[in-house]
Amino acid sequence: MIEVITSVAEARAVFKEIRSNGTSVGLVPTMGALHAGHTSLIERARADNDRVAVSIFVNPTQYDDPADLESYPRTLETDLEKAEAVGAEIVLAPAYDDLYPDGYRFKVSESPLSRRLEGAHRKGHFDGVLTVVLKLLNVVRPHRAYFGEKDWQQLQLVRDMVEALFIDTEIVPCPTVREPDGLAMSSRNALLPEEHRRLAPRLHSVLTAGGSVEGMTAMLEAAGFEVDYVERWGKRLLGAVRIGKVRLIDNVEI
Ligand code: PAJ
Repeated sequence: MIEVITSVAEARAVFKEIRSNGTSVGLVPTMGALHAGHTSLIERARADNDRVAVSIFVNPTQYDDPADLESYPRTLETDLEKAEAVGAEIVLAPAYDDLYPDGYRFKVSESPLSRRLEGAHRKGHFDGVLTVVLKLLNVVRPHRAYFGEKDWQQLQLVRDMVEALFIDTEIVPCPTVREPDGLAMSSRNALLPEEHRRLAPRLHSVLTAGGSVEGMTAMLEAAGFEVDYVERWGKRLLGAVRIGKVRLIDNVEI
């Protein structure tokens, strides 16, 4: 049976014990509502490490929109089954007060990257992400932690933080897992009504087809999306759109 730990104090003790025998630990941080994107990270962690832990915590500090936080799918029982099926042994599912004994007095903030792209549309988002990731890395102190390329900007910021703060964890990037029609898997896809679900893969097809930023933006708008941004960043093309109440992000290599 998969072991579920809700207490941070207990988690620190359990992982300390595991690490003390030289056992390698891989951590996959998630907010739950697990899908094939998440399980691909867990499988990769399974291949690289002796022990695999998954954290499931819907982190309030990374939401600037209470409705978004409220509607985020919470499916702990099926998450535990899915995580166990692909080889996770420990799930860390702490309560807010336990993970934030400081009530979020202390936070990690970065600039300028965290203020652009996603950060420009979701105020304080990356402060919340970086802070919770630092907390989780300090609780578990894993040898490796796994992050999806689907959240490209998040991946870069986590990598940069680990380097800047001399954190002893290797950050392992994992490719984006997609539905057969190209839509990047996301817990939010479950919130799309059928008509919007049919439209959603256009984000990926437009980014893949490329062209000018203006041209791509116009195509997405014509398809019915509200476009937050389409932007080139290094060798990557990133896009974020809204349809109804759901926000979708994606990125492709140029
Ligand atoms: P969440 O959205 O649950 O995603 C957890 C991890 O799964 C992230 O590293 C994300 O990039 C990865 N992931 C999500 N969809 C994916 C897909 N289709 N293919 C590959 N990987 C995918 O990202 C977060 O949670 C949070 O911000 C977190 C890092 C846990 C901090 O709260």
